[in-house]
Amino acid sequence: MNQPDQQALDNLNQDPALPQDDEPKYLRRIRSFVLREGRLTKGQQRSLELFWPVMGLEYQNELYDLNKVFGREAPKVLEIGFGMGKSLVAMAKAAQEQDFIGIEVHKPGVGACLGEAETAGVQNLRLFEHDAVEVLRDCIADGSLDTIQLFFPDPWHKKRHHKRRIVQPDFVQMLRAKLKVGGVFHMATDWENYAEHMLEVMSAAQGYQNLSGDGTYVPRPDNRPLTKFENRGVNLGHGVWDLMFKKVQ
Ligand SMILES: C[S@@+](CC[C@H](N)C(=O)[O-])C[C@H]1O[C@@H](n2cnc3c(N)ncnc32)[C@H](O)[C@@H]1O
Repeated sequence: MNQPDQQALDNLNQDPALPQDDEPKYLRRIRSFVLREGRLTKGQQRSLELFWPVMGLEYQNELYDLNKVFGREAPKVLEIGFGMGKSLVAMAKAAQEQDFIGIEVHKPGVGACLGEAETAGVQNLRLFEHDAVEVLRDCIADGSLDTIQLFFPDPWHKKRHHKRRIVQPDFVQMLRAKLKVGGVFHMATDWENYAEHMLEVMSAAQGYQNLSGDGTYVPRPDNRPLTKFENRGVNLGHGVWDLMFKKVQ
């Protein structure tokens, strides 16, 4: 009998399009990320120790009362996959009358964001280190958010990985449930094929209205900071696409 080729099995196990976690098979779902346990720098480690107790929110199987978390009633902005958190912290600093919630699975990014927030002296920011799909589903109440932002999500370039893209019909309907009526879902990407995918999913999604006059993309709003990476890309002639959709029902 032929033995399975070990290399082929290893390749299969490393295919990021397959579930990598140890959940029972029937609970598995395709995730939008592959967790890389990147090394923490000393600074990130220190920020996690010092500032997580103040700014961190633990994932729990129960809704948070966000007004209680921030100690006030103010517009709530939630960002999915904030990376190292530079633009999230800049936005929180620039809009202190709003409360910001960031979600990121990558621990070094959470550490970096905490350090950045401390340096900037922002008080209106809380972070989750967990899968945003689960945080939104289990911790965030329906109708509680004014804005949801998703900036430069992993594009999953290969066609066979497109199912990993976080923008999918079910996902955007969950987001709609979490938004207040009139609340906005704001996406940005530098990958044209993902921009087209976002536009297709959102244009077909019930209960949303495209804020673009011509039913496509919007210019970058001033409140979304231009990152160094994006600026470099723009100078090289690469495109960036912003999409904004309002919850109308
Ligand atoms: C390409 S990076 C962009 C980071 C940042 N928004 C920026 O513009 O620089 C995408 C980020 O989303 C995070 N991510 C992907 N899926 C996620 C999920 N389901 N929950 C939380 N974070 C996620 C990744 O860890 C990664 O840091």
